[in-house]
Amino acid sequence: MQIEDRVFIVTGASSGIGRSTAIALSARGAKVALLARSTETLRQLAPKLPGSLPLTVDMTQFERVREAVAAVRQHYGRVDGLVNNAGRSYAAAIEEIDPALFDEIFHLNVLGPIVAMQAVIPVMRAQGGGSIVNINSGTAFMTIPQYSVYSASKRALLGFSLTARAELEKDRIVVSEIYPFITATNFGKNRMGNPAGGGPAATYASGDKPEFVAGLVLQAIEEGQAQYFANDRLRKMAGGAP
Ligand SMILES: NC(=O)c1ccc[n+]([C@@H]2O[C@H](COP(=O)([O-])OP(=O)(O)OC[C@H]3O[C@@H](n4cnc5c(N)ncnc54)[C@H](OP(=O)(O)O)[C@@H]3O)[C@@H](O)[C@H]2O)c1
Repeated sequence: MQIEDRVFIVTGASSGIGRSTAIALSARGAKVALLARSTETLRQLAPKLPGSLPLTVDMTQFERVREAVAAVRQHYGRVDGLVNNAGRSYAAAIEEIDPALFDEIFHLNVLGPIVAMQAVIPVMRAQGGGSIVNINSGTAFMTIPQYSVYSASKRALLGFSLTARAELEKDRIVVSEIYPFITATNFGKNRMGNPAGGGPAATYASGDKPEFVAGLVLQAIEEGQAQYFANDRLRKMAGGAP
């Protein structure tokens, strides 16, 4: 799908991959609705991205997600793309999993993206098509002690994304997924649960740049393949050709 002059919603636009994606889309001439909880951070970013729309949204508050999509449509008159990027991790051994935090992770990483898709699908269908890009994780293909909840949430997102892709093909709505590897963002700092879980923050600092992942998002929007991987190791883990 073309990017220039199109309207995109980016969730988790206040930091990391979402912020880089919003900047990259804007630089290519798109209008971007910036969704996240951090009102002040979005307020500072918006003037740098011409025609952007900052919206304070907690993606686990599903009615608010629906309201935000309606507000974007009202503001621009259309919605062409959705980048489901907002997400967090949770470190806890199986015997320590807190059901409330399990719920929070699944609400944010799985149900939030589903509710956002549900809200944009009728709009895109009426327009004759659109692009949905879900940010997954290489951990969907890995078994990592303490990361069962996070990797299970991303495995669930994988299933919903592939099914949505099959269901929506007839409507010319293309659903793609991005599989980042370790990326230098605030992701490690924002992890919930065991502070010892997941190793030092330095692991993230030496990861891929968020701009690299944003480049994969733009590639997915333009090309529309099902899955994009940050490296060949992840592609192999997913069972794809090297
Ligand atoms: N960094 C990595 O190594 C890595 C690897 C694989 C996959 N990923 C995936 O990449 C995506 C982006 O993560 P990142 O690395 O860019 O991390 P990040 O720097 O921590 O950014 C996360 C974004 O999600 C937003 N967010 C968190 N909770 C939210 C909520 N309840 N409602 C709305 N927005 C919320 C945050 O904004 P507010 O706090 O302002 O709400 C922030 O903008 C996630 O889906 C993550 O699973 C990251």
